[in-house]
Amino acid sequence: MPVTHTTDSRTTTTTLPQDAELVLKVIPMPADCNANGDIFGGWVMAQVDLAGAVLPARYVNGRIATVAVNEFVFKQPVKVGDILSFFSRIARIGNTSITVTVEVFAERISMQGTYLKVTQANVTYVAIDDKGKPRSIQRKDA
Ligand SMILES: CC(C)(COP(=O)(O)OP(=O)(O)OC[C@H]1O[C@@H](n2cnc3c(N)ncnc32)[C@H](O)[C@@H]1OP(=O)(O)O)[C@@H](O)C(=O)NCCC(=O)NCCS
Repeated sequence: MPVTHTTDSRTTTTTLPQDAELVLKVIPMPADCNANGDIFGGWVMAQVDLAGAVLPARYVNGRIATVAVNEFVFKQPVKVGDILSFFSRIARIGNTSITVTVEVFAERISMQGTYLKVTQANVTYVAIDDKGKPRSIQRKDA
């Protein structure tokens, strides 16, 4: 059943993804704030990069490097004390690259058990060899 959450005079109805894997949970601290007192977007991007790497690294069973972030949407501010849950799914597997979609949900400190989608991003990682050059990915569904 959808969870309803009211914030900033808007109502957001959301459910946690059923077709994605929970790859990271983290709580931002005051040191991660921007000048507005909300969480700095660069901090969120760093966490998304870490979280997004989990499924590609597992798939290629080796080193990967981030090559591109082709979409990054900050839908709602992230606040100190939010419990952030990062869900990831593989969107595309290429010859040497894997693209994932990462969705981030926040549980506000006084609204435990209610999830608000705050961020979504598409991130592409390349499988690399010992010299840092792209290497072919062995498909597992072939
Ligand atoms: C990642 C890296 C090894 C790729 O080497 P490259 O010679 O540029 O590789 P290619 O141009 O052959 O592209 C490799 C794959 O990335 C994909 N790719 C490249 N640029 C892309 C972009 N802007 N968006 C999406 N995919 C992209 C290509 O389509 C290709 O995928 P495919 O083989 O599945 O079709 C190299 O660019 C690199 O070392 N970059 C720095 C990585 C890094 O330091 N990341 C941390 C961020 S600071």
